[in-house]
Amino acid sequence: MSTVQRTIRFTLNGEAVAADVPTHWNVVELLQNRFGLFGARESCGQGLCGCCTVLVNGNAVSGCLYLAAFVHGAEVTTIEHGAAGRELDAVQQAFIEAGAFQCGFCTPGFVLMTRQLLDEKPDPTEDDIRHYLSGNLCRCAAYPEIVAAVKLAAQKRRAGQGR
Ligand code: FES
Ligand code: FES
Repeated sequence: MSTVQRTIRFTLNGEAVAADVPTHWNVVELLQNRFGLFGARESCGQGLCGCCTVLVNGNAVSGCLYLAAFVHGAEVTTIEHGAAGRELDAVQQAFIEAGAFQCGFCTPGFVLMTRQLLDEKPDPTEDDIRHYLSGNLCRCAAYPEIVAAVKLAAQKRRAGQGR
C-alpha cells in the first residue's frame, strides 16, 4: 500500500520551510525526519509526559499527538530556536543556574512550557507554575528545582535579562 503524502509549508524557528510528509506523521516525526531536530522527543507517545512539546502559534502542544499536516501555515517553535551561536534565553539560563535537571530528557518540554507560561503570566504564582507544568513529567523528579527555575526565569525576564 503506498503512503499518502502531502506538502506542507510553515514557519520553523523563524524560517519559512516546506516538506513532503506522510499524512499519518506526527510533528515529532516531521521535525526529526525532515529537519534533523531532535529536541522534541517522543517518550510516552500518548500526550502524557510533555517530552515532545513544541509551540504552535505560541501554544504548547504535544508533538506526539499533533499531526504534521496540521502545522501547514502555522508558526512552529522548537527548543532549538535561537540555539545557533546565540546566548541562552532567560528560561534556559535559569534552568542551568537552578540545576533544574538531571538527565535532561524532559528539559526541552519544560523550557518551552515555561516560555508560554511567562509570556502569559510574567509574575506567576506557585500555583500557576504547578498548573502550567502539570502536563510535563520528570522521571528524575527534579520538580523542586524546576519550580525554582521558573521563578528565577520570571525574575530575570522582569529585570530585562533576556526574553
Ligand atoms: S511523548 Fe508526547 S506527551 Fe509524552
Ligand atoms: S531531568 Fe531526567 S527526566 Fe527530567
